[in-house]
Amino acid sequence: MEKVLTARHLNKYFYEPDRFQVLREVTFEVEKGEFLAVVGKSGCGKSTLLYLLSTMDTDYEGTIAINGETVTGRSQDYLSRFRNEHLGFVFQFHFLLPEFTAIRNVMLPALKLGRYSEKEVEHRAYEKLKMIGMAEHANKPAGKLSGGQQQRVAIARALINDPTIVMGDEPTGNLDKTNTQIVFDIFREIARENQQTIIAVTHDPDYAAGCDRVIEMSDGMIIGSHENKVQ
Ligand SMILES: Nc1ncnc2c1ncn2[C@@H]1O[C@H](COP(=O)(O)OP(=O)(O)OP(=O)(O)O)[C@@H](O)[C@H]1O
Ligand SMILES: [Mg+2]
Repeated sequence: MEKVLTARHLNKYFYEPDRFQVLREVTFEVEKGEFLAVVGKSGCGKSTLLYLLSTMDTDYEGTIAINGETVTGRSQDYLSRFRNEHLGFVFQFHFLLPEFTAIRNVMLPALKLGRYSEKEVEHRAYEKLKMIGMAEHANKPAGKLSGGQQQRVAIARALINDPTIVMGDEPTGNLDKTNTQIVFDIFREIARENQQTIIAVTHDPDYAAGCDRVIEMSDGMIIGSHENKVQ
């Protein structure tokens, strides 16, 4: 199987208020097309780990390779380009631009990447919104949408450049049951059909039970990794 992410001996410390080791010797691999959940008690280091994997936090020991490229030790410019091209992010707080329409928000990472014309980008953005049940809201300012709707727009935005890996920190955290299911089904499908990889922190046992594999953390360490039966 093709590895899409390799993390080796990750250690991380915070220094405020006191020196505190938040990640300890975190080592794991993720396969291409894997639908992965990361679980563990509040404060065990899940978000911190995801922030390292996302390449946004570069202050750590150990190495991270994504898509065969070592991202550890690279320049901010390189990482910013790398993220836009290879990674999609879904956080609980979605950071949409409230004045811009939903579709414009989805389009932005693709316009930045410059792979397609603006017209083509608009078409693709509309398709992503349609997939996630938000087509009818495409032309509303993001700030005028409900929390759950904004989160779905953020998911469409995360998918617009067809990222190799989608990373989420409680991507369904603000959603009701129906919308959680929609998001879950989309992740399931893009993992299975497109071989895109999903790595998401979740507190939702049903969500975790539907993933290919669950990594469990405690106290900054990985204490377990188990595969779910094929469904
Ligand atoms: N910037 C920071 N400075 C100092 N300590 C921090 C910082 N960010 C997080 N921490 C601490 O690191 C530990 C891990 O935090 P993290 O946010 O990774 O936990 P988590 O597993 O995502 O928890 P939750 O499930 O509540 O989101 C916690 O004890 C937290 O208080
Ligand atoms: Mg967290």
